This record gives sequence, structure tokens and C-alpha cells, in this order.
Amino acid sequence: MIYLDNAATTFPKPREVQKAVIDCLARVGGNPGRGAHALSLRAAEAVWDARCEIADFLCVRDPSSIIFVPNATFGLNLAIKCRIRQGDNILISDQEHNAVFRPVYRLKADGIADYSVYLGEGDVLSNIRKCENKNTAILICNPTSNVTGRKLPIREIAVYAKARGFYLIVDGSQWIGHGVPDPDVVGLADAIAVPGHKGLYGIQGSGFLYLKSPAGNATFLEGGSGSRSALPDMPDELPDRYEAGTLPTPAIVSLAAGVRFIRTYGVERIKEKETRLFQYAWSRLNDISGVKLISREEDAGAVLSFRMVDEAPEETARRLDRSGIAVRSGLHCAPLIHRAIGTFPEGTVRISFSVFNEEKDVDYLVQKLTKL
Ligand code: ALA
Repeated sequence: MIYLDNAATTFPKPREVQKAVIDCLARVGGNPGRGAHALSLRAAEAVWDARCEIADFLCVRDPSSIIFVPNATFGLNLAIKCRIRQGDNILISDQEHNAVFRPVYRLKADGIADYSVYLGEGDVLSNIRKCENKNTAILICNPTSNVTGRKLPIREIAVYAKARGFYLIVDGSQWIGHGVPDPDVVGLADAIAVPGHKGLYGIQGSGFLYLKSPAGNATFLEGGSGSRSALPDMPDELPDRYEAGTLPTPAIVSLAAGVRFIRTYGVERIKEKETRLFQYAWSRLNDISGVKLISREEDAGAVLSFRMVDEAPEETARRLDRSGIAVRSGLHCAPLIHRAIGTFPEGTVRISFSVFNEEKDVDYLVQKLTKL
């Protein structure tokens, strides 16, 4: 199997990650933060070590600002819904995933807030300005499209958002792990949601939300936190305020092992490899008559979208699967950008790379597509 669906979830997971999970299951059996016996303490220590590893990777001072969540969708919902106030206007880009679009749509449908979509082409800051109104309070940005790989000028957007006093939420799903995290952006962001199972090579069920400080007065989920148990409400402190219920220790351990893996491999080296594979694939696919490239050369990175002329993307993906190549087709849960680039409603065929892909995977894809 040639696996080219790493933007959905990276596969395979590094041996170091697999080993960390097995080791955790075998040795770290207790409930973290819920007991004083050795196994519980060991689990709590593993979770704390993971917080420290991630905080160090992001260059944030306080490991308590790393909230463990099951996926980026959870983290984004948490940040948006804990921050929102009645009557707020939210700015979202035209390349947001449904993990952002659906929560803001629901807030509008429920009469709580409104949203405006800014265009990610041309002068993005001026596009943002055009969408603002006196109620704008939150700006959300997905720096890298999961469909085309298009990059938004996240640093400029972050500086602008803070100058305007907006609460800045970043969807790091296709951004963190694909290059050294920009310390300026991390420093400016109020919240960054990151899945563990994509560019950080952890297992599914792992993820985190970086929160500079509590998102507001609201809580997102109430329950046991293992601390201040006599209080009827969730504790005020991070991370406990947002971590109700038993944490998935093996998933969290896998995430820390994944972060160690990419740091050892070299995060810039990962970016270079993904860019090289993209450029190679882009030029090889460009030579096939019958292939229409959707990603542009300047979108170079881990994801590349294309279409076969006169064939539905779903059918291309089905045929590639029969040839032993895993890709993802359709809207990729991101309908806004498909509308923006004219590939709605059928979408595109997307290939996406990890450090485990090589040029020969592209060669095989090209061979099969040429035959199709
Ligand atoms: N959001 C993930 C993707 O882009 C699942 O495929």
C-alpha cells in the first residue's frame, strides 16, 4: 500500500511512537491525577512530561497552558464556545475546516453570534478589514489549507488581530509539525488547536489546545478534574478547568513521543522533504494530459490537490485504491475553499505526504494515473 493520505492521519506511526504506547500500556496503568499510588503517580508524571515536551516545542513558558483534547475539532469548539459573547462577530477565513465553520454557523443559527468570511487571496489584511464591524471580537485563521496547501500570511494576520484587540484562534491542524512553529505567532495567539495524529505523529485520540489564559467565564465540559473536588464548579486554573474526566494517557504519551520524533528528525528537514515531494509530484502530474492541478506551485508543502479531467474525484480515488494507493477525495470537510476555488461540490483528489514517503511513491502514483 502506498499511503498518501497523511493530512487525514499520518501512517505509519514512527516505531518510537508505537513503542511508547506499548510501554505505557504495560507500565503506566493508573489514572493520572486521580490517586496517590505508584501507578497513578506514574501516569500523572507521564502526562506532565508530555505537557512539558509540547510547551518546550512551542516555546511557551507554562506547560499548564497545554490542554489535552481528543482532536483539533474539540479544541476549536472549546476555544470558540468558551470565548463567545452574545452579539459577537467572528471573522473566519475562506479556508477554514468544518471544525470552525460548523461551530460558528451553529452560533449564528442559535442567535448567539454572527460570522463573516474573509478571502485568503490577494491583500488578506484588506480583505479582513472589509469584513470587520463594531461587533468583531474573534478572528480565526487556518494558516495552511488542508485542501490545496494554500498559506495565509499568519504572522501579519496575528499582528493585525492583536492590534485590533481581537481574540486570535489558530487552527494548527496542517501547520504545526510542518516547520518550526513561528514564535511570534505563538506569542500573539490566544488559542492554538492541534491534532496529535497528523503532523505530530501521535495516535488518534490525542491532541492539545494551547490557551494563553482561560478563554472566558464559561466552561466547556464539567466533571472530575482530580483537583479541588469539593468545589461545585470546575477549578479556575489551567489545565484543570478544561480537562474534565480521565485523560487518555496512552494517546498523550504517543503525542509526546511523536513530538520527540519530529524534533529528532528535524522539523525544518520535514518541511524541506514535504516541499521536495510536492514539487516533484507537481511537475510529474503536470506532464500527464488528463490531470488538472488544483494546488499551485507556490502552495508547496504536505498536501497537493488535483483532478482527472472528466472523472469524479471519488471515482479516481476508488480506482487508485484498487491499485493500492490511498488518497482522499471530495470536500475534505472544508467546503468553503472548494467554493472559493470552483471545485464545489465534487471536490478534488488530494495526496498528502509524511516523512515516510519517497519519490518512488510519486512515481507509482504517476504510473497508475497515466494508465487511468
Ligand atoms: N481534516 C482531515 C483531512 O483533511 C481529516 O483529511
